[in-house]
This record gives sequence, structure tokens and C-alpha cells, in this order.
Amino acid sequence: MATLINLSKTPSLAGIRQPATLRPPEVEPGVACDFDSYLLTPDTSCSERIAAAKARLGQDVVILGHHYQRDEVIQFADFRGDSLKLSQQAAEAQGRYIVFCGVHFMAESADILRRSHQEVILPDLSAGCSMADMADIGQVETCWNELQALGNLQVVPVTYMNSTAAIKAFTGEHGGSVCTSSNAAAVMRWAYARGERVLFIPDEHLGRNTAFRMGIPLDRMIVWDPYQELGGNSPEAVRNAKVILWKGYCSVHQRFLPEHVAKVRREHPGIRVIVHPECRFEVVQAADEIGSTEGILKAVQASPPGSQWAVGTEVHLVHRLSQERKDRLVISLDPNVCVCSTMFRITPQHLLWALENLVAGNVVNRITVDDRTRHYARIALERMLSLR
Ligand code: 13P
Ligand code: SF4
Repeated sequence: MATLINLSKTPSLAGIRQPATLRPPEVEPGVACDFDSYLLTPDTSCSERIAAAKARLGQDVVILGHHYQRDEVIQFADFRGDSLKLSQQAAEAQGRYIVFCGVHFMAESADILRRSHQEVILPDLSAGCSMADMADIGQVETCWNELQALGNLQVVPVTYMNSTAAIKAFTGEHGGSVCTSSNAAAVMRWAYARGERVLFIPDEHLGRNTAFRMGIPLDRMIVWDPYQELGGNSPEAVRNAKVILWKGYCSVHQRFLPEHVAKVRREHPGIRVIVHPECRFEVVQAADEIGSTEGILKAVQASPPGSQWAVGTEVHLVHRLSQERKDRLVISLDPNVCVCSTMFRITPQHLLWALENLVAGNVVNRITVDDRTRHYARIALERMLSLR
């Protein structure tokens, strides 16, 4: 199993004064308090109170933090990781409450993998993902029915973690698997052992970049536009395809352009360019390396001191990496900075609100997936986890 970084003894928390009263005055047992009363709490008070609430909850709470979270939040994560590591952690977590500092589809996956006595909390319910929103279960079912109507095509669905629980369930029910950016190639190989074609949902770029690296030529890939009949393709094009790529993308990673690669190479001769596989095909081709979130971390950490890196991914990860590896130059590939605005919605105030309510016995912002969806989505997630 991949090693997780245990941050529960974060040095920055040392010396934080523990308030005498652990239950803040705003929160009453049995009465979940409104988030609005936390809006104006300054970050410094938040840090003190989060540390106190966390200490009070002890083993009952596990805080999971995605690498794209802001520093003021991720410092409190017991486990930090990419979406694959965090899903593994969610499946193994012991705490009664799993507080997920990430986005909605990640918390949903944690709810699918959790044990029966656990509850999953997303500190801000508006932390969604624009890519996950680009595939709706009704559209996916229509796509599947249109493909089936073409005859025996042998299509295996592979859905990226960045999708709704309903689409994961669809995938599990139809013999497919979930994947993340860390294991997309392994999952695709698994899929091709089961059928001739992969329907890859919802990230066009991750699907194309992964399939191309596996040796599948571009002319055997088609894009499925859910707003057009047969995805905008002819029946012949669908029959010829090895990969059917859902027309979806990440608004953060799609901002990186080949021009950024050319510019950074001009300005920093010898710099290595590493980009996330959610970037456009042309950007990946122009880069030196492609890496999932964990892949980027490993590549930079394994490089010798003095190395120079331009990184094409979410900027919180890039900044943190540059702070933690001061003996290397680590810069964002896009000088105009790419923030994932939905990851950014999880503020220290939201985390504090969720934790102080738990201290008072109130579970706020619980994420729940219904039993049927959980059953099939779990099949698709466990297929992926079994491939580690
Ligand atoms: P990872 O699978 O690399 O954690 O990516 C999740 C994500 O949302 C990237 O945009
Ligand atoms: Fe979604 Fe992109 Fe944000 Fe990842 S970075 S959570 S894919 S919007």
C-alpha cells in the first residue's frame, strides 16, 4: 500500500494554547449552529480553536486533506494525499467521523468506502468540481444505450474518480472500474483485458493522454459530446474507436497551454516541465514529464538539489512544494496562477464550524450515498483499489 504522510503531529501546532473551555459558546449540544456565526472568525483564532476541537475529539475524528487545499486547512490534516491515497485512507480510517477537506466527489467516495459506524463530513457543501458536473447520469445512460444499439461493441466503462456516485455506480453495474490520475493506465489495461473498447468518463484529456501513452493512436479515439446524437460521431467512427472520450475537462488544468511551456523554457533554460494528465494533449506532448499529483511530488522530491521545475497543476500544491523544497526552483507553469476555486471553498472557518459542532455532538454537512448507489459504486471503487 502507498505510504501516507501522517501529519497529526504537525510541528506548527506545537505551543498552541488550549482554550480553557473547549466547547465554544456558539455551539449548543443537539442544536447545530449556523455557519454564518463563524464567517468573521479570524484565521488565527480559527487555528487555535480547530486544534482544540481536534484534540477534544481525539481518535473519533480523522481529517483527510487533498494536496490542493490551502495551507491554513491542510495543516490540520491527519492524512494528506491525492484522490487515490485519500480513498485508500477513507477505506481504512478508524475514526467515527471522517472530515474530508477536498471536493464533493471525494467525500462521496469516502462515504461509499467507509465502515457502517462512520460518518463523512464535507466542511462546505458547495465545494464541487466543474469536471464532475460535466457528466450527468442521464447523459451517461443515453450514451450507453446508443452504443448498445450499434450491436455487440464490447464497451467497458472506466470512470475517473472525479464523477458523481451515480456514475460510479453505473460503472460498477456495467462491469467497469473507477480510476484516478495515478492509476488510469493500470485500470485501462484491466479494462482492455475485458473488452475491445473503453468508454472513458468524464475527462477527455486524462483519457487521451493515458491511452496515447499506452500506444493507442489518436485516430482510434473519438470524443463523445453528450449534447449530440451518437456523441457527434458516425456509427463507423464509433466501431473503429478503441477509446470513447467523454467531452469533459478540468477548468484549472485546461488553462495550461503549449505557449506556457515554450515561454518557461525560454526564461529558464534547462528547466524541466512536468504536467498533470488532466492537461491538454499538446501541453503534455510539449512537457518533459507527465505526473499525477503524487507523481509530481515524487519527481520533484527525487530530483537533485538545484533542479528547476515548472509544474502544470493546481497552484497550492506548487507553492507548497516550492516551500518544502527550497533547494530546488519550483514554479507554476502558468504565471497567472491556477487555483481550483472549489477546493478553495474549504476555509479554516468551515473546518472549525464542522469540528466544533462535532464536539457538541452535532453532525453538520454529512455526505450520504443511498444504499443501491453505494453497492454498485463500491464494486467499481474496489476494482480500482484491488489493482494497487
Ligand atoms: P488527483 O487524482 O491527482 O488527486 O487529482 C484530483 C483532481 O481533482 C485533479 O484535478
Ligand atoms: Fe475538479 Fe479541476 Fe478542481 Fe480537480 S482541479 S477538483 S478536476 S475543478
